[in-house]
Amino acid sequence: MTQSTSTWLYRHPASKLSADGRRISFGADYNPEQWPREVWDEDIRLMKQANVDVVSIAIFSWARLQPAEDRWDFDWLDELMDLLAEAGIGADLATATASPPAWLVTEHPEVLPVTENGTVLSPGGRQHWRPTSPVFRKHALTLVRTLAERYGDHPALVAWHVNNELGCHNLYDYSDDAARAFRSWLQRRYGSVDRLNRSWSTDFWSQRYEDFEQVLPPRTAASFPNPAQQLDFHRFSSDALKQHFIAERDVLRSVTPEVPVTTNFMVMGENKGMNYADWAGELDFVANDHYRQPVANSQEELSFSAATTSSVAQGRPWFLMEHSTSAVNWQPINRPKRSGELQRDSLAHVAHGADAVCYFQWRQSAGGAEKYHSAMVPHAGEDSRLYRSVMELGETLRRLDPVAGSRRQPAQVAVLMDWESWWASELDSHPTEDLRYRPELFAWWLALLDLGVRADVVQSHQDFSDYEMVIAPVLHVVPTPLKERLEHYVDSGGHLVTTFFSGTVDEDDRVWLGGYPGALRELLGVRVEEFAPLYRDESVMLDDGSVGQLWSEPIDCVDGTEVLRRYRGGELDGRAAITRREHGSGSATYVSTKLDHAGLSAILSELVRYTGVAIETPASLLGRVEITRRTGEGGDFLFVINRTDEALDISEFGGEALIGANQDSTILDPRGVAVLRVS
Ligand code: GLA
Repeated sequence: MTQSTSTWLYRHPASKLSADGRRISFGADYNPEQWPREVWDEDIRLMKQANVDVVSIAIFSWARLQPAEDRWDFDWLDELMDLLAEAGIGADLATATASPPAWLVTEHPEVLPVTENGTVLSPGGRQHWRPTSPVFRKHALTLVRTLAERYGDHPALVAWHVNNELGCHNLYDYSDDAARAFRSWLQRRYGSVDRLNRSWSTDFWSQRYEDFEQVLPPRTAASFPNPAQQLDFHRFSSDALKQHFIAERDVLRSVTPEVPVTTNFMVMGENKGMNYADWAGELDFVANDHYRQPVANSQEELSFSAATTSSVAQGRPWFLMEHSTSAVNWQPINRPKRSGELQRDSLAHVAHGADAVCYFQWRQSAGGAEKYHSAMVPHAGEDSRLYRSVMELGETLRRLDPVAGSRRQPAQVAVLMDWESWWASELDSHPTEDLRYRPELFAWWLALLDLGVRADVVQSHQDFSDYEMVIAPVLHVVPTPLKERLEHYVDSGGHLVTTFFSGTVDEDDRVWLGGYPGALRELLGVRVEEFAPLYRDESVMLDDGSVGQLWSEPIDCVDGTEVLRRYRGGELDGRAAITRREHGSGSATYVSTKLDHAGLSAILSELVRYTGVAIETPASLLGRVEITRRTGEGGDFLFVINRTDEALDISEFGGEALIGANQDSTILDPRGVAVLRVS
């Protein structure tokens, strides 16, 4: 991974909006160009009524701002910016480059992305541009400069919003532009074609290259494309979009060095394409979009995403740029949120470090592909349950202003996330095609949550030495420096837990020889000769009654490695399934199958006792609440999130309630959130 080197500045745009800069901002994407002028006044009235203080504008406005290459129309945006300034509402002004206008793609169809099998994507949707197109880049930067020069001094401007969800629809482009850029990227990475040949193992299947000019992106091939080439294409594609961000940002910084620049990440679900751990250092503040995923435990998935965003933001507060007030439009079936969920979802992000709560979008569109996507002002209008809930949230957030600027307090346990392992472990031609990286991390996170153990997410390049316990599921790619850091962590008293398919390959996707789990074999004190993945309807039993799926392994232990669980029955009957090796006051635990929830809980309970990690949730509330902590100048805050549909007595926590419970009543509503000042 190319680690970003730029100095990180945390610059919250709200510092311009409130005297002491302490504010949990509230707002939305705002698309007034979809509405007649008279609606704008109504919008401003309703925004003020709802305590909205920031809106993201012009995200998809390129066609309006520049109707032809030599024609500009800023009148409407001038008027809008003035209206916002008068109303005291900040503008997170987009660079409007997300969706190229018709004139650009008509004159320059060569900006359109190409799929792996050669299909050129048509305009008519959005984000139909190649991240590496010099033509697109030139036109985009002209627009960015023009906007920066025109609005840089405008009093409404609080931040720049580069493009929108970079890579949402155009992440993998296989065009000739991409091929050229990929070659230059490879040249920079490897220096010589010989090194590329070694790293890509090209003696396999006669894939040797004599010249970089012969190299292509991994377009649809006759059989499995080279895995190292695929891994590099993931790295390159993430990097290409990051470079686009940097190009826009640099124009903005050159014109308005004092205005913070961000772009909205998509840390949620299985969005693995953009390595945000690598991108984050390029932003002035991290912003994230999150939509409830159509998965079991979607509430907890939200928390896991928010904790991941916090890790990407290196513990600094971040900006929730988009989520939904209720239903979305892009899932197979789009259900509205239940009562209480609008508020709980937003506050769960704040619990994990968000200093802003924003939605897609302000007013629900009457036409277009997203007309059935909820908004702050629904089709039903102001007189609606939804808008009233929005107003209520706006009031709630004002009571949380003291929290703004505080940091999410580190936990004792972290789940280690490694973007390259995500990419590499899910490549084709593997022992099983059913392995999904992120759900493995999430399963451990959920089990910790149910045990009442607060956990962080930590990125593999970050310092994890202060954690009592680091859980690194499917840490598939382990280059030598990471191997050494993990060994040092354990030698210094840390407790590492890792699982099957970890330590398997290096950064070139080449296997660490001598037996699995390769790079971690000695640390773990185990050796595996063959993986034994399971069929979909198969499972294995462990001697504590827990069940494993997906994967199993015949483990050989070296002397001194303790067996914590054995397989029971089947081919592996009596063989070690979970092991632990102690090193000084540290330890390394290996879990060789995908445990069910009960199995994870059982082994984690033992590990928590063994490592002395604190269970912070009172026994009566185990599995029913999530707890997070934020600490800053405004005090120490405990967030208690009711995960259930029942009212809960939270008197055991004490503290002064900012929201959610008070001295007369320590009862937390079903799906409610309490924020308690604890010092
Ligand atoms: C993304 C985009 C928005 C909108 C929402 C819908 O987050 O940034 O423009 O399409 O999805 O959920």
